[in-house]
Amino acid sequence: MLTPEQIIETTADHVKEWFTGEGSGHDWWHIYRVWNNAKHIAKHEQADMFIVELAALLHDIADHKFHNGDDTVGPRVAREWLQGLHVSDEITDRICVIIKEISFKGAGTSSVMSSLEGAIVQDADRLDAIGAIGIARTFAYGGHKNREMYDPAIKPVLHDSFEAYKANTAPTINHFYEKLLLLKDRMHTETARRIAARRHQYMEEFLSQFYAEWEGLR
Ligand code: ADP
Ligand code: NI
Repeated sequence: MLTPEQIIETTADHVKEWFTGEGSGHDWWHIYRVWNNAKHIAKHEQADMFIVELAALLHDIADHKFHNGDDTVGPRVAREWLQGLHVSDEITDRICVIIKEISFKGAGTSSVMSSLEGAIVQDADRLDAIGAIGIARTFAYGGHKNREMYDPAIKPVLHDSFEAYKANTAPTINHFYEKLLLLKDRMHTETARRIAARRHQYMEEFLSQFYAEWEGLR
């Protein structure tokens, strides 16, 4: 029987191995940062740390080899993994619900998390989508998808359905308006809200510098 610490360590090793070499923004280091963010946020909440850590480690498990928009894949893969480590059904169920609920579905859709642990992991995931790291991930993703960075003739658009959000091929800068700048107001915990405010400000400064440089100003 593994101790909780050993279960977390084994899971981290396994996820690290699975994600190594992934270049689309879902690399091991994204998982590592979300895990750290989640531990930091959870210190200020009355949360079950075991669930928070495992859900953070497993939250993007479906985005590696299996990415096909099917949101039953992540919970299924996570369940098999946790069962293999003899984690109880009750805890496994709670982790799988978090994995199912966590992903961003576009500006017009809600982001309800049914547990405190889920709210913490979602905040942690969203913190990694904003600020300096968020900017870097966004342009890395845009390059991966062969998108232009910016086109002054194309105005920012907000997609009001998940389908429109996923189907969009707008220049990468649009992603700030359809997602990144919306995230600070969608944080669940006070700790994440505070960190998000700083990262948001940094993105606003980045955009204003970006547009100024585009015109040869500053
Ligand atoms: P998450 O790990 O938050 O669930 P996603 O799967 O939505 O992330 O996206 C992975 C990374 O790629 C994030 O940093 C996200 O902001 C970025 N990304 C997603 N869609 C786009 C897009 N259309 N343009 C640029 N970046 C994107
Ligand atoms: Ni993620």
